[in-house]
Amino acid sequence: MSENAPARIERRPFGTTPTGERIELFTLTREGAPTVSVTNLGGTIVSIVAADRAGKVADVTLGYSDLAGYLGDTSYFGAIVGRYANRIAKGRFALGGESYTLACNNGPNALHGGPGGFHRRVFAPKVVKGPDGDALELTYVSPDGEEGYPGTLTATIVFSLGADGGLRIEYTAGTDRPTIVNLTSHPYFNLAGEGEATILGHEIEIEADSFTPVDRTLIPTGERRPVAGTPFDFRRPVAVGARIDAEDEQLSAGGGYDHNYVLRGKAGTLRLAARVVEPKSGRALEVLTTEPGLQFYSGNFLDGTVAGKSGRPYLKRGGLCLEAQHFPDSPNQPAFPSVVLEPGETYRQTTVYRLTVAR
Ligand code: GLA
Repeated sequence: MSENAPARIERRPFGTTPTGERIELFTLTREGAPTVSVTNLGGTIVSIVAADRAGKVADVTLGYSDLAGYLGDTSYFGAIVGRYANRIAKGRFALGGESYTLACNNGPNALHGGPGGFHRRVFAPKVVKGPDGDALELTYVSPDGEEGYPGTLTATIVFSLGADGGLRIEYTAGTDRPTIVNLTSHPYFNLAGEGEATILGHEIEIEADSFTPVDRTLIPTGERRPVAGTPFDFRRPVAVGARIDAEDEQLSAGGGYDHNYVLRGKAGTLRLAARVVEPKSGRALEVLTTEPGLQFYSGNFLDGTVAGKSGRPYLKRGGLCLEAQHFPDSPNQPAFPSVVLEPGETYRQTTVYRLTVAR
């Protein structure tokens, strides 16, 4: 069989920010792969258009129809999240004998890099040629002290479409002072199509034997709890909605699933993290990552107030996120894998979102 042709990228203007920065939209296409659009505002995945069992295509990611939507977003639809994805308790951490304070933008805690995190930043875009054809390289230089984080952090994120149809996201970052870093990509999926009711019927399997329970503010207690015998057991495929309303102190803390799973296998090695199937359309999603953790968020904070790309409201649990990352609050949890990056080191992460059709 001959190889399918390499990916191509088309770029077009996506609008201008209030401060006059011109934003672009990059559309990646490849035979046998979904069509993926990414903007350099926040490195945001704007759409993933994928076929169902009958060949009918739909956009399976939640988002907005225009730049204004993304500029006002509070849900992190599709965005790159940094410098620290997920929560840091009380917005405080210590590093090299100094203490640092971040904005507390989520109750008592810091969330997702702060109000001016990477999701709000304009990345410098470049279309580069790689083994898979055109790839989109986005670079952002975060100045020393930005949002309270030490060191100048230079982050580069490359989006490409593999021969297997997978959307590959490769991150690298370097710093000039010791710092912490934990990046992720935050797409919300609804494999029936964005704007379709809820994801409660999606069947999900997560390659994890344990998860990190949280307190009422969603900060890990430090425990790694086996999933066996709990509503968090997704070692075999189970519908998201099957146990989401069970009497369970952890489900009640998250308002549903909003928890970090401790992935099996060796961090640093690209391996399967999760698989989701939407039984009616047959669309399936595989998530592979080199990260140690996966945040499974069942869209509990969506409340129907946002009308998405096609004008339909995004209801509670209208999308789900599988965010490959280090564990929440790692800077304050010595037993969690380290998120410290020293000058001269390179932070690396690869995550793949692969849409297929379940037979
Ligand atoms: C992550 C968090 C959730 C929520 C969403 C964004 O998944 O864990 O609690 O903040 O991002 O709304």
